[in-house]
Order: sequence, then C-alpha cells, then structure tokens
Amino acid sequence: MIKPDGFGRRLCGAIIGRYERKGLRLVGLKMQVIPRDLAERHYAEHAGKPFYEDLVAFITSGPTILMVWEGADAIQVARKMNGATDCQKADVGTIRGDFGLNTRNNLVHASDSVETAAREINLYFDESDLWDFPMPDGHWLS
Ligand code: CMP
Repeated sequence: MIKPDGFGRRLCGAIIGRYERKGLRLVGLKMQVIPRDLAERHYAEHAGKPFYEDLVAFITSGPTILMVWEGADAIQVARKMNGATDCQKADVGTIRGDFGLNTRNNLVHASDSVETAAREINLYFDESDLWDFPMPDGHWLS
C-alpha cells in the first residue's frame, strides 16, 4: 500500500516503479480512501497501542494505492525495499530511507507474512480484481 503521504507527495510512480524494476509482478491495483471500519480491521493487531488512533486517522486521511505484487520471496523483498518502519532509521536506498522522515508518515505498508498478505488482500480486493498474466520476462526472474 502507498499511504496518503506517498500519494500526497506525488511519489506513487516512483514507488511503483521500484517494485516493477526489481522484477515483482503487479497482480492487482486500486486507489481508495480507506473507510474507518476497514482501517480498524487492517490494523486490529495495533488496537490499544499509543499510536493506534493516530495511525487510523492518518491512513483514512486521503487516497491510498492498494496493490498486490507477486514474485520470488515477494514479502521479504518488498519489506526490504520499503526499509525500517522509522524513516529516520531506514537505510539509504530503501523507499523510506530515501523519501521519508518519520514513523507515521512512512509512505508504504507491506504485509509481513503470507498469512497476513492473504488477510489484507481479502480486505481490499475481490478475486475478479486480481490478474494472473504470465510476464514475457518470467524466464529471467524464476
Ligand atoms: P505499517 O507498516 O503500516 O504498520 C503499522 C504502522 O504503525 C507502521 O507502519 C507505522 O506507520 C505506524 N506507527 C506509528 N507509530 C508507530 C510506532 N511507535 N511503532 C510502530 N509503528 C508505528
């Protein structure tokens, strides 16, 4: 997910381009202002934490770009490309390290496991939103 700060700072193309150039395959994409009930379900594991209200308010504050990407070790690769949650600590070369300044406005979110990805994809996408096209460069990337 590209969060509202990524959208507002006109970084969608730059961020999507990084995942694409790495060799991940885009399977689904939509733009949505996330309603509060969905945000609460998405971030249910953080309910009660000091930053929870701020997080839900932020994530519902503007458009997000919701995406499904596939590829070899896609979860580990995407999280490495995103960088540490705190943009101040994120390595240079990562999305957060290169473009972000703090922990709330950290530009992107990525699922942390296959199980979480299945749950989060189900929150935002129907089966018919997902496209399983073979890529012409697939033999270079498998
Ligand atoms: P994200 O990957 O979307 O998952 C939970 C989010 O909570 C995290 O990125 C941060 O944007 C946000 N957050 C805000 N404050 C904190 C904090 N103190 N510790 C961890 N996450 C935080």
